[in-house]
Amino acid sequence: MTTLLSTEGLTMRFGGVTAVDGVTLSIDAGELRCLIGPNGAGKSTFFKCLTGQYKPSAGRIFWRGQDVTGRDSFALARLGIGIKTQVPSLFDGLTPMESVGLALRRLHGEAESRRRARRALDRLGIGALGERRIGLLAHGQRQLVELAMVVAPEPDLIILDEPTAGMSAEETNRAADLIRELNREHAIVVVEHDMHFIRAIARKVTVFHQGKVLMEDAAGRVFADPRVRDVYLGKAVA
Ligand SMILES: Nc1ncnc2c1ncn2[C@@H]1O[C@H](COP(=O)(O)OP(=O)(O)O)[C@@H](O)[C@H]1O
Ligand SMILES: [Mg+2]
Repeated sequence: MTTLLSTEGLTMRFGGVTAVDGVTLSIDAGELRCLIGPNGAGKSTFFKCLTGQYKPSAGRIFWRGQDVTGRDSFALARLGIGIKTQVPSLFDGLTPMESVGLALRRLHGEAESRRRARRALDRLGIGALGERRIGLLAHGQRQLVELAMVVAPEPDLIILDEPTAGMSAEETNRAADLIRELNREHAIVVVEHDMHFIRAIARKVTVFHQGKVLMEDAAGRVFADPRVRDVYLGKAVA
């Protein structure tokens, strides 16, 4: 199995707070990995280190065996890592076709960008919204346009931070189906707090607690583990 992304002893400190504490993990080609954990576990900080928004205090990040520690998000995108943050990245005055097309123009000519933008919107089930103004779209639809911008360049790995934040239960279910569908072509890492969503998509799960990996296993075993239940309920773990 090819390892795409891995970390060794990844650590991020903010003053006296160690938000991520010596995390070693690896993501294989084709995987759909969920990173979960209670609030404050270090998930978002780990995501920001992994996606080049923070430079880790210690430890290493490898992409296909190459040390990429400290590279920024743009450099990682050029290597084939698609990143969806929780920060909105859309302009209300553009259409989905224009937005996704722009995301592709640094890689392709205009006609090819349009063709690929069309395909990405169709894959996400929002082809019919392609020419509408983004300012007129609902929150869930905007999330899908942002995902289309990440997917359109056909990255080898997609990393998503809380993709269902602010979505209704029905939108969350649809997002779970969609992520399983995208996983047929892309490896995916999902950082997520919503347990309902994780149950709907989960394969292999890594549980964070106090900046460290508490457990890593198949979803069924993770959800059955008393330590995981305890940290979600806020109980101390021995
Ligand atoms: N920019 C920051 N400055 C100081 N402390 C931070 C910062 N970001 C996160 N932390 C702290 O690091 C810990 C992990 O936070 P975070 O990564 O946001 O956890 P999660 O995403 O799992 O809820 C928390 O104790 C949080 O208060
Ligand atoms: Mg978070």
